[in-house]
Amino acid sequence: MKAKEYLYMMQKILHHIDEGVHVLDKNGNTIIYNDAMSKLEKMETKEVIRKPFGEVFKSLNNESSTLLKALSSRVTTTDLKQTYLNKDGKEITTINTTLPIVVNDEVIAVIEVAKNITKMAEMSHTILKLQNEIVKPEKTKTKRIRKYNFHNIIGDSNNFINVIERAKKASKNSASVFIFGETGTGKELIAQSIHYESSRKDKPFIAQNCAALPESLLEGLLFGTSKGGFTGAVDRAGLFEQANGGTLLLDEINSMPYELQAKLLRVLQENYIRRIGGTADIPIDVRIVTTSNEPTELILKYGKIRKDLFYRLNVIQLNIPPLRDRKEDIMMLANMFIHKFNERLNKEILSISKEAEDSLMKYDFPGNVRELENIIMASISMSDDNERILNMNHLSLLNNFKDDDIITPEIEEDGIDEYLAKLEKHLIEKTLKEYDHNITRTAKTLKIKRQTLQHKMKKYNI
Ligand SMILES: Nc1ncnc2c1ncn2[C@@H]1O[C@H](COP(=O)(O)OP(=O)(O)OP(=O)(O)O)[C@@H](O)[C@H]1O
Ligand SMILES: [Mg+2]
Repeated sequence: MKAKEYLYMMQKILHHIDEGVHVLDKNGNTIIYNDAMSKLEKMETKEVIRKPFGEVFKSLNNESSTLLKALSSRVTTTDLKQTYLNKDGKEITTINTTLPIVVNDEVIAVIEVAKNITKMAEMSHTILKLQNEIVKPEKTKTKRIRKYNFHNIIGDSNNFINVIERAKKASKNSASVFIFGETGTGKELIAQSIHYESSRKDKPFIAQNCAALPESLLEGLLFGTSKGGFTGAVDRAGLFEQANGGTLLLDEINSMPYELQAKLLRVLQENYIRRIGGTADIPIDVRIVTTSNEPTELILKYGKIRKDLFYRLNVIQLNIPPLRDRKEDIMMLANMFIHKFNERLNKEILSISKEAEDSLMKYDFPGNVRELENIIMASISMSDDNERILNMNHLSLLNNFKDDDIITPEIEEDGIDEYLAKLEKHLIEKTLKEYDHNITRTAKTLKIKRQTLQHKMKKYNI
């Protein structure tokens, strides 16, 4: 294909794609400005083309324009969400990627590709608004929340008590707390206890899960929205404002979108927020508690949390040990849960059988305290009204699990071949005894041939 034809084809492509494309040459003059970009920014192509970028977009400078940044410092920006007003004063949200084209170590052009996601952003906010009107999520959530304090926390093991001591110290100040623990270890319990023990106790405690919502919804929920910011926007306070003076628990911070993490960082640095689409800076005083069920090394290693944000959040770190690493607490918690569910389910269980206790102590509780609580609740609900002792039959959930767990200490010691041989010998002896050494009936019961049975009896010296 000739260069001229090629150019013509490229132009056609550029003008028919949905993404906005804006290209500057090395002197900062616009050489490509396609239809999609022109629609997005409400600028005529002729107002922009062959003109110096700085002259056309007067409000932008080297810092605020990704194109100029790419030109002057070769900075590549990938998938940056930008919200700005176009020439008609309409708020536009785009996802931009900007990169320099470098040939022989010289920047010959810079390219910006912009995807218009205004509709999507508006839609998210509409959903948020509707959701807010229908279910009022934050409000129901705050009401539903049980007020826990340190008296509700059970545990006697050293590693757990250490954590609780540190948590109690944390309640004396307002420093950010980062709580790590597997699921069901009591992160929320500890976060609430810190709040209700602190001087903020008469102000709200609000919890929000960062993994539950897409970025734009979460952003609106946290920072609030302002009327006129976008179609259908209403004046609505975000969780930061609602929690003012109190504590905001951000659960699963490792799942918070990266872009939003930058905004959160700014709030923590500056102590004020700005509602989406709003202009006023609203001062806030909120203690932040964050949780993660992934270890900090991993979330830092895989970049799930910005380092600068992490250092702000991790002023006090609490690592709650999993239940299997504090076995002393198992029976203490079990007894507390027995008491709790006796009352709730109208039963009178007094204790746990030795066998049931042993299996609880052996179990490794992947779901931690919450799983123990569920096991006890299910067991109690299965007991009869006149029963006083929880036994293995009641511990149904554990039983289910144990069926799968065939790696016994014997297998670990003997290896599988020897273990199976022992098992086989044992079964043959047992069945022979049952049928009074009748070979035919024993073979039939074990579903093997008479000769095979005799062969095995010889092998095992029976
Ligand atoms: N040490 C404890 N003493 C008494 N109850 C506890 C303790 N630890 C956890 N629990 C109970 O276990 C359940 C789970 O606790 P919580 O919701 O705080 O866990 P979590 O770590 O936030 O879990 P997830 O990661 O799944 O959100 C709750 O009912 C809580 O009351
Ligand atoms: Mg939780």
